[in-house]
Amino acid sequence: MGIQNCHFIDLPRIQDPRGNLTFIESERHIPFEIKRVYYLYDVPGGAERGGHAHKNLSQLIVAMSGSFDVVLDDGHHRHRFHLNRSYYGLYICPMIWRQLDNFSSGSVCMVLASNYYEEDDYYRDYREYQKALGLIR
Ligand code: TYD
Repeated sequence: MGIQNCHFIDLPRIQDPRGNLTFIESERHIPFEIKRVYYLYDVPGGAERGGHAHKNLSQLIVAMSGSFDVVLDDGHHRHRFHLNRSYYGLYICPMIWRQLDNFSSGSVCMVLASNYYEEDDYYRDYREYQKALGLIR
């Protein structure tokens, strides 16, 4: 699977003069069952997060507040996505290298994940990731 399988998902939005509301239902609005939610916050200016790929995990990333960039790389192509709306989720399929940067001050990055935290599911070394893709030996 490559970055052509990663895309923005337009989440339901209930607009209301009292304030807008967005909801996400497991396996209905996103193509996986949600088993874990985590979020990044208090990210200092200039910081980079991510820098890894997952073997089996699917994720949806939402900018709950502020903005940041997600750079996706499938070993062949690289694409930078700018996230700045809480009603757009970026779906990331397994085996995609990702890096998050360009965090605005006060931004909050929420991640929905298809499985519990498992360190064994990570490629944290880019060469190991390239080897797993069969691009280098
Ligand atoms: P990591 O996934 O490397 O963060 P990011 O991709 O946002 O830069 O995780 C950072 C640390 O937090 C690492 O020690 C693992 C731990 N962690 C958990 O214990 N549970 C989790 O659900 C996540 C995402 C990370």
